[in-house]
Amino acid sequence: MEWKDTIIENLQWSDAIINREGKERVAAEIAAKMKDGDVIGMGSGSTVYVAALAMAERIKKEKLNVQVIPASMELSMTCTQLGIPQTTLWEKKPDWTFDGADEVDPEMSLIKGRGGAMFKEKLLIANSKETYIIVDQSKFVDRLGSKFPVPVEVFPNALLYVEERLRMLGATKVILRMAKGKDGPIFTENGNFVLDAWFDSIHSSMEKEIKKITGVIESGLFIGYNIKILSI
Ligand code: A5P
Repeated sequence: MEWKDTIIENLQWSDAIINREGKERVAAEIAAKMKDGDVIGMGSGSTVYVAALAMAERIKKEKLNVQVIPASMELSMTCTQLGIPQTTLWEKKPDWTFDGADEVDPEMSLIKGRGGAMFKEKLLIANSKETYIIVDQSKFVDRLGSKFPVPVEVFPNALLYVEERLRMLGATKVILRMAKGKDGPIFTENGNFVLDAWFDSIHSSMEKEIKKITGVIESGLFIGYNIKILSI
């Protein structure tokens, strides 16, 4: 039996999509990379959303047999809407992954997590031999942390301990991310808070140092990963 008039059927991206034309160009490149039998890690964010639209078109047209593992519920719902087959990390390991980013520095280190999905995004990237990061020119920075804070997903009871430890690591400002469309803080898909931590400088061991704090699930710092940048 089929559902009628579903929310999934009518879903749209929740915000305006900046530089949609550029994103569509690179989305076509991502869609062109798909090969029959591929299992693809799919990050999150508006860039990934635009790529999902292009992938769906090619899958339908060429009857391609691919499966994706999305990093967020919004992308999973999008795949359901578009008819893109999905699987999980319990069943399959991605052949390759693609994602967006908030900042890219000259060493190709990243800040991600504006959308709060950095834990599952990192899980996909850590599990992939090949990862493509799609960014427009506005995402390139000389210094990581100059435009975006580092998002840190925190087990709720550990909130104040993690805040204290982030300050000890040099954070100049630590903010509990608040929700829009709900009172109070946001909860990630894993039931945790997000602290946004601003740093004047981010050194190469910072990702590991943040991860070592008890109560930290994951941060949005990606330092030294095997990634390829596709710029718009
Ligand atoms: C989601 O949590 C993020 O890591 C996104 O990948 C990142 O914020 C890029 O998003 P846009 O593609 O919307 O710029």
